Amino acid sequence: MKIDYRETTNDLLKRIDIHSQYGAKNIDEWMLDLIKLQKGMKILDVGCGAGKQCFSYYDFLRGDADITGGDVNLELLAQAKSENEKRGTGMTFMELNFNQPFPLEENQYDFESCCFAIYYAEDIPFTIKEMHRVLKPGGRLFTSGPMPENKLFFYDIIRDATGKEIPPMPGSSRYSTQILDSMKATFKNVEIHIFENPLVFEKVEPFIAYTRASLSEDRKLWSSFFETKDDFEKIMKAITSVSEKRLQRDGKLVMTKVVGGFIGTK
Ligand SMILES: C[S@@+](CC[C@H](N)C(=O)[O-])C[C@H]1O[C@@H](n2cnc3c(N)ncnc32)[C@H](O)[C@@H]1O
Repeated sequence: MKIDYRETTNDLLKRIDIHSQYGAKNIDEWMLDLIKLQKGMKILDVGCGAGKQCFSYYDFLRGDADITGGDVNLELLAQAKSENEKRGTGMTFMELNFNQPFPLEENQYDFESCCFAIYYAEDIPFTIKEMHRVLKPGGRLFTSGPMPENKLFFYDIIRDATGKEIPPMPGSSRYSTQILDSMKATFKNVEIHIFENPLVFEKVEPFIAYTRASLSEDRKLWSSFFETKDDFEKIMKAITSVSEKRLQRDGKLVMTKVVGGFIGTK
């Protein structure tokens, strides 16, 4: 399955910022509590983006770990590298396309993660096998991604504003099914954990900023909704009007993120 998708740096960073400002809970704390990292570990983060998880691991282990982040997007990697230099964290950031054999030896890593990225893989079993190959025996893979109940409010507003059915999202349509099945088929043991985080907006602006960062022109997933910038702005206007009405009616806008965290042991 070829997925026409390209994350832009600004959109990703905007969504991270909105989660941290309006979310009731912190997803990194949830993840760190689950994955039980230990000092001295050799860690690989696949689809690392601007390095969010790598920096969390580094801070949690106070730098006592060998951490590598890999991503296909050079702009996001440049952002991660520049932050790495600024903070003097000495991690490695490398180009890694998870649709191709990883340029890495087998049986190397104690811990590996792939957060909000695995569902963009063209061939899920292939990517999961590559992740399994580079782990040491007994090593663990943590993946995270949206469950089917994720952000129902968000999709409901868009449906209401456009009158159109929401296209299947590669994450929520595949994470708890194809990806979980593939992890179970490849790993000795797989644990399933769930994180629920309501994002509460008392004004429409941050919700609209989140929506823009999710639907913007670079997100080709929404091409059946808009082709041109004008179409995009028209849809944003309709979404803003529906959101304002809901805010007046309910006093706040609540969008609940429902995220799965699967831990596979080799
Ligand atoms: C939603 S972002 C998540 C980034 C980061 N893990 C985080 O949580 O902030 C999805 C990431 O998957 C990466 N990605 C998409 N396709 C990829 C591929 N073929 N190989 C490696 N990374 C890929 C994107 O470049 C992007 O950095």
